[in-house]
Amino acid sequence: MPSSLPRPLAELPVRRLTRSDLVACADLCEDRGWARDERRWGLLLAAGTGYGMDDPGGEGLMASCVVTSYGPDLTAVGMLLVANRYARQGIARHLMDRVLAEHGSTPLSLYATTAGQPLYEQLGFAIVGSAQRVTGRYLPGGEQPCDATVLPATAEDLRAMIELDSKVFGTDRTHLLARLPAFADHIRVARVRGEIVGYAALWPSGRAHVVGPLIAPDTDTAEALVAALAAATDLPLRADIDARHGDLLDRLERRGLLPSSATTVMTLGAPDLPGDWTRRYAPLTVATG
Ligand SMILES: CC(C)(COP(=O)(O)OP(=O)(O)OC[C@H]1O[C@@H](n2cnc3c(N)ncnc32)[C@H](O)[C@@H]1OP(=O)(O)O)[C@@H](O)C(=O)NCCC(=O)NCCS
Repeated sequence: MPSSLPRPLAELPVRRLTRSDLVACADLCEDRGWARDERRWGLLLAAGTGYGMDDPGGEGLMASCVVTSYGPDLTAVGMLLVANRYARQGIARHLMDRVLAEHGSTPLSLYATTAGQPLYEQLGFAIVGSAQRVTGRYLPGGEQPCDATVLPATAEDLRAMIELDSKVFGTDRTHLLARLPAFADHIRVARVRGEIVGYAALWPSGRAHVVGPLIAPDTDTAEALVAALAAATDLPLRADIDARHGDLLDRLERRGLLPSSATTVMTLGAPDLPGDWTRRYAPLTVATG
């Protein structure tokens, strides 16, 4: 049943989300058919800034958005959600206007769904790439041999992972990755002659396990990291693979991970994402880049 706004939008407050909003955030996801993802919300609200609008009808949250700052060069925008009952009343635009007013002097990036893309285009975001979501049960066997040794990450590996990540991602994201050991169920590192050249994490979302981030020097190592994580779970896998990595997408499809939805990578205030896309196969989550 659609709900109309009792007052003009400009009079409805936008407030900061906190951990006490986790259930309301999860309810909003569910309202839009997304996994509830309380754990992901916990990470996002701890490492970033959440914006929310309360339902004037008293039913939890009407809208959300999360911003993760990576210093002066990049801020990622994610989790823009408006409850179905309030759709097409300008609420997402209102929330994005607020985010742009607060963060618009920094280059912004996001992964847009088909529903979100027209709004971002109207706000001046440009398309710089896309990510292909793949899902399914991983069928092991037939992977290409790779030069790296893939092992579970240890606490001592975190510093080297963060150093590698800052080169590949293009900015330091220690504040996010320091939380990765608590957020992820499994982390694997790829080493060549002792040096960490890649890493990947597996975290739960609904009835699946998501692979992300996935950072590797080449497709063979990326495939080996996915295979190692797949061996650690009985759940179906999900990953949002940079569409330029068609070679990995082909291999994952042969292993049973089939293409589902796609998202469009967009930026505002920067011609492209920083860093080295050739080694960046999948984001931590599409909400953080
Ligand atoms: C995308 C979403 C946030 C839009 O929220 P909203 O409050 O309904 O959007 P607005 O009313 O502010 O619409 C702004 C403009 O975006 C476009 N738009 C909004 N919803 C759209 C949809 N479902 N399909 C295509 N374009 C859409 C329209 O151009 C719209 O302007 P108009 O109504 O004047 O034509 C909402 O549909 C949603 O929560 N979807 C599910 C989650 C999602 O995909 N989020 C985006 C993540 S990147």
